[in-house]
Amino acid sequence: MTRRLVVVGSGIAGLYAALLASEAPGAEVVLLTKGTLEESNTFYAQGGISAVLAPGEAAPGDSVAAHIADTLAAGAGLNDPNAVRILCTEAVRDIAGLRRFGVHFDAGAHGGPALGLEAAHSAARVLHAGGDATGAWIARGLVAAVLDRAVQGRLRVETGAFVTALLSGGGDPDGCSSGSVTGVAYLAGGQPRELDADAVLLATGGAGRLFARTSNPSVATADGLALAWRAGAAVRDLEFFQFHPTTLAAAEVPGGPPALLISEAVRGEGAVLLDAAGQRFMPDYHPDAELAPRDVVSRSIALHLAATGRPADSPVYLDARGIEAGRGAGFLARRFPTITARTRAAGYDWTLDPMPVSPAAHYWMGGIATDLWGRTSVPGLYAAGEVACTGAQGANRLASNSLLEGLVFGRRAVEDFLGEAPHNGTAPRASSAAGGLPLTHASAVPLRGSSREGTAAAAPEAGIKSGPGSGVFSRAALGRLMTRAAGVLRSAADLDDAAAQLAAWAAVVRPGIVAASDDPREHEDRNLLLAAGLLVAAARNRTASVGAHYRADTDPASASTPSMQRISS
Ligand code: SIN
Repeated sequence: MTRRLVVVGSGIAGLYAALLASEAPGAEVVLLTKGTLEESNTFYAQGGISAVLAPGEAAPGDSVAAHIADTLAAGAGLNDPNAVRILCTEAVRDIAGLRRFGVHFDAGAHGGPALGLEAAHSAARVLHAGGDATGAWIARGLVAAVLDRAVQGRLRVETGAFVTALLSGGGDPDGCSSGSVTGVAYLAGGQPRELDADAVLLATGGAGRLFARTSNPSVATADGLALAWRAGAAVRDLEFFQFHPTTLAAAEVPGGPPALLISEAVRGEGAVLLDAAGQRFMPDYHPDAELAPRDVVSRSIALHLAATGRPADSPVYLDARGIEAGRGAGFLARRFPTITARTRAAGYDWTLDPMPVSPAAHYWMGGIATDLWGRTSVPGLYAAGEVACTGAQGANRLASNSLLEGLVFGRRAVEDFLGEAPHNGTAPRASSAAGGLPLTHASAVPLRGSSREGTAAAAPEAGIKSGPGSGVFSRAALGRLMTRAAGVLRSAADLDDAAAQLAAWAAVVRPGIVAASDDPREHEDRNLLLAAGLLVAAARNRTASVGAHYRADTDPASASTPSMQRISS
């Protein structure tokens, strides 16, 4: 009997899972994506993909145990240890899987793969391709393999297919318990369509477009999270959103191209951060300085700007000149060809001058709660990649563990779908290990999914405090509000303001009407507003600072002088 798997999204998790499922006799695979196959966060990943390879290919002295320890340390101990163990142990298997689908990594001096060092890794273990174009090379390789399979009739691809709802059978109409997912409703060329499925795998990526500055492309609008929430799925760890410390500072264009990432690997090669006075400041904030975990570096930039009286949106400067001096002329262009070309096009020569950089929203650690086989709390619904939360990333993701998570757990979801998983039947947990907000439909949080989302329409306008985020809804206004209230530094007052403003906007966007709209952009607005409300609710609930969630109003470090600030990771 043939069983149909509908995969939604075409980043690394969706492409890889679709390819693997298409190899199974008896599986019919349909891959839906709202843009082109290449439009994904994966395509923009620069630094690479971390993995401890077999002895001989791994760095001397490196081990899976060290990768596990680094992942747990970066995640501030809120990781699910089992998810981390699987992530790091099975990495080698899925790197082989990528190679089988035609993805090749840069070679090192001795013929094996070149291994980069990135912040918070205790050894060089980051595979890269095209120098600093790892995501683009992986995406192109997997897309070519998918198109090949499509030509052979082994899977079906629909681009420009915007999924608007998960179809389900049974369950409680109040949304307090969920029936099985039985398919998807979607828009194709403005026309509503439906597709039945035995299971749906959400691999829709992240939500960087919640914020004013992001490294994510315009497709990153929280669609999968919103779909799952409306279908009654549990979500977790939503307060943890990672800001990448070094994106090229440039004027924001709402809805425009993503901020240009200056890869973590550049700091791994030895670049340092300077303030406007030309002083290196990271050693004042963390013993590992520029190689501290990403949340620490972004937070230190924000705290240092505040401590030195600079506006919060001022840049700091990434100085890579020492790399070129140490490794020889032309090294930066060879090792980082994309960054070299893109910064040159923006008017910078990083061999001669430090470059202005600012943190930007990069990666959501939280997401749809899944177990170790990609299963959500809703039968028939899987999630993998950034949209999911296995718990592997904890409160702050270790550099280059995101592509890896999409691979490992995308594959495991397919194995479960195919009945190959020897799992023990445990259900996904809804809250973080340290007791964040259990965000399920049974919990009382604002901006409910399904029909309850409409209750936000009753939010009293009179209760909304004025502030920089007030006024008419627009993506730009949402980005400003979220950056101010739920960005690198957070406070109870700003989060409260944001919650009120989001409720008012949700009333204006009128979820009930949008649900029937044939305009994908309106659905994206609705999804962004829902995700923003859930993120802010989770952040309000966690009053202590941990990982990427930093409460400047309650943490003593933000009140001390820069030289006294020691930020633990
Ligand atoms: C980077 O190259 O710095 C980004 C890679 C990642 O997000 O892990």
